[in-house]
Amino acid sequence: MTRDGERSPKKRLFIKTYGCQMNVYDSERMADALAPLGFAPVDAADGADMVILNTCHIREKAAEKVYSDLGRLRAAKQAKQAEGGRMVVAVAGCVAQAEGEEILRRAPMVDMVFGPQTYHRLPEMLAKVDRAEGAAGRARLVDTDFPVEDKFDHLPEARSAQGVAAFLTVQEGCDKFCTFCVVPYTRGAEASRPVASVLAEARRLAAGGVRELTLLGQNVNAYHGEGPDGREWGLGRLARALAEIDGIARIRYTTSHPRDLDDELIAAHRDVPALAPYLHLPVQSGSDRILEAMNRKHTAADYLRLVDRLRAARPDIALTSDFIVGFPGETDAEFAATLKLVDAVGFAGAFSFKYSPRPGTPAALAEAQVPEDVMDARLAGLQQLLAAQQEAFNRASVGRVLPVLIEKPGRKPGQLVGRSPYLQPVHIDGPESLIGRILDCRIDDLRAHSLFGAPAAPPEPERSVA
Ligand code: SAH
Ligand code: SF4
Ligand code: F3S
Repeated sequence: MTRDGERSPKKRLFIKTYGCQMNVYDSERMADALAPLGFAPVDAADGADMVILNTCHIREKAAEKVYSDLGRLRAAKQAKQAEGGRMVVAVAGCVAQAEGEEILRRAPMVDMVFGPQTYHRLPEMLAKVDRAEGAAGRARLVDTDFPVEDKFDHLPEARSAQGVAAFLTVQEGCDKFCTFCVVPYTRGAEASRPVASVLAEARRLAAGGVRELTLLGQNVNAYHGEGPDGREWGLGRLARALAEIDGIARIRYTTSHPRDLDDELIAAHRDVPALAPYLHLPVQSGSDRILEAMNRKHTAADYLRLVDRLRAARPDIALTSDFIVGFPGETDAEFAATLKLVDAVGFAGAFSFKYSPRPGTPAALAEAQVPEDVMDARLAGLQQLLAAQQEAFNRASVGRVLPVLIEKPGRKPGQLVGRSPYLQPVHIDGPESLIGRILDCRIDDLRAHSLFGAPAAPPEPERSVA
């Protein structure tokens, strides 16, 4: 940064993040890329010098939300102009990638539209828009390239995260082409970061106080990054190496595809205590005909076998999943097969959605779309079953001793909040000096979705992890 850059007052950057955890990670990387230009994050759009909407295209509702938010932003942009200022409005993320120019047409106040693989070019793009403004014109820019250079080689190093748990993107994009899904089009082809770059970022995070890593990828267990030995490493091997880093006590990964859960990864669940016994493994449907129409490339029985193998490797593992109801052509009997699978597995939690036809995906063209009222009824039935399973899982935690990573102060004075291995919030009483520690806690109570407990033994002084 130049001396001038340091002296000038900070420019205000507001980023709103929609969608999945990878967008959360990407928003932080965009903030990192803009920091050298003097931008500092703020938590409201009013008065901001730059607003970025980091968008999600996965379902219609998510995508349409962007346009209503842009409508509201118009007033904020005009107010800034009335004061003689200027607000640059940018749309990033998966809607930007999918709709490109269309966004400029629908929302005249948008200045920049750019997709997920271009974030390292952000300073350059902003300079272009600024130059046009300086010349009393207005440049409106669209960049939905999938550049040959790797964004991660050109983005600044991730700043040390705030807090004790952090996301780390290891893999991006998807080659699976499930017939309902936009991700292969919005994120592009599947690509893995090299092992050395992942380990370096993890070490920086650990040095900044991070104890728990969540490895991110649209299809994270398809990870096949180049190792320091010149060979391709799978996710299991990567997890073993990450577990060796001083300070890293817990590792999670999301989102996994059942097809890519290989023997090496299952073995890592058996051998690596730091690998959380909690896995999000979307199955979408319990009907073999629907699974095939979705192009998931496995059967319900394959999924059940996988669950058995995971439980054999790590008996305390709990599973969560994603479901779609009302995929085109889904019959009552096929929906019942989904309920049967849920019954057979017993999930600790799940996300479930009504099928939403997405432009450009094969399933959107199917004639046999399921009526809305049928989807509503199926969703309610499925959610009732899943909620009962989640409640039973949480209820079964009461009376157990669980290792809790203490994350932050609670709402009440003297209270701390942490997370169990199963991502359940756990409330205990204790001093803030315990933040960042993993304490065995006896769970005494469940209220709503939160657990309440107390350290099972007085916390020992922290061993130095440095
Ligand atoms: N890579 C993950 C899914 C990422 S998208 C996987 O393969 O499972 C997150 C979830 O959104 C999906 O698991 C699916 O349940 C849901 N989803 C994706 N496209 C959808 C659509 N068109 N309509 C409804 N739900 C959808
Ligand atoms: Fe979408 Fe996941 Fe299927 Fe890829 S594997 S196409 S991200 S649902
Ligand atoms: Fe949404 Fe894109 Fe993530 S479509 S779910 S933000 S990959």
